[in-house]
Amino acid sequence: MYCTRLASDVIKTSHLPSSLPSVLRLKRWYKLSMLRVIITVTSQPTTSQVIPLTPQLQQLAPLVLTPLVPKLTLVTTTTTTTTSVVIKMDSQRRFFVIGNWKMNVDKSRIDSIVKFMTAASLNPRTEAVVGCPSCYLSYARQQLPNNIGVAAQNCYKVAKGNFSGEISAAMIEDCGCEWVILGHPERRTIFHEPDDLIREKVAHALKSGLKVVACVCETKEDRDEGRTWQVLEAQMASLAASVSDWSRVVIAFEALWASNTGVLATPNQVQEVLSQLRQWLRHNVSHSVADTTRIIYAGSVSSDNCQEMARLADLDGFLVGSAALRTDIIDIINARGSYVSRIVNFFSEQERSLKRI
Ligand code: PGA
Repeated sequence: MYCTRLASDVIKTSHLPSSLPSVLRLKRWYKLSMLRVIITVTSQPTTSQVIPLTPQLQQLAPLVLTPLVPKLTLVTTTTTTTTSVVIKMDSQRRFFVIGNWKMNVDKSRIDSIVKFMTAASLNPRTEAVVGCPSCYLSYARQQLPNNIGVAAQNCYKVAKGNFSGEISAAMIEDCGCEWVILGHPERRTIFHEPDDLIREKVAHALKSGLKVVACVCETKEDRDEGRTWQVLEAQMASLAASVSDWSRVVIAFEALWASNTGVLATPNQVQEVLSQLRQWLRHNVSHSVADTTRIIYAGSVSSDNCQEMARLADLDGFLVGSAALRTDIIDIINARGSYVSRIVNFFSEQERSLKRI
């Protein structure tokens, strides 16, 4: 068992690894047998080397931390007197949440959404974007603060021409927006957009300088007939052929059978697909693209299920439909930060109880 004698008066930041970012640090010294330990919680990646835990730390981790953060990685650096433990909260991928308004807003609805999103405290470590109907792109951009991006929900595959009813990537940029959603499941299933067309749209949008939320999806029939991976693999292969710069692509996987159907995908079902998508990138594109590309989930994400999902190893955010019209979107944007706060609260409580001893 570890001894939790707190000695915050002897914290010396010089003992912290120099590479440690200062975004969020929670430093506590514990006397652990003869070993002094600094525990640092960070939401940013570090360059510290991962080394096997000492037996004492192996005891400490499950007792104190694992119940709070199943997804943690402990990184330790040891000097003669001190072991620093960095709890890596995140991967190198910034959490990404896009609220897709679909065809469900007018100016007054946009005003009310802007009001509650602006008033809320949004986790700055999450990249937040809204998907807006094309006729309101400029309006939404003007009303929203700069820390919230604006995406179009579709665009065509060429810069201009006689294509009535379509909009171009250049027009989206001209409205001050930098994102576009392409291959949304509703475009694929209701408007029968094939992989080839989506591929050309993605290629053109990237070439024009936009960032792309590229969607892949499975239907209920796909899942029932056991062909989920076959369908997703084909969509990924087509998509990958169009991508010139993966740093400007977020992949959104939607379980259509779990979108507004009353059926929810379980975290295990979601993790299974996301991990397959990441593996696919690893084997067919590169290790670095697999490690850095954000893969997000869509399908009835709400305040109720976002926190549990936010811990999934391969999940980097959400594409949100209905809940983006409600204040739920705030909880979803903050879903990952909430367990950082839980750790901070945990250690504060520890501190209080130690003072009482
Ligand atoms: P949903 O929609 O969250 O209402 O299921 C997600 C989407 O299709 O963008």
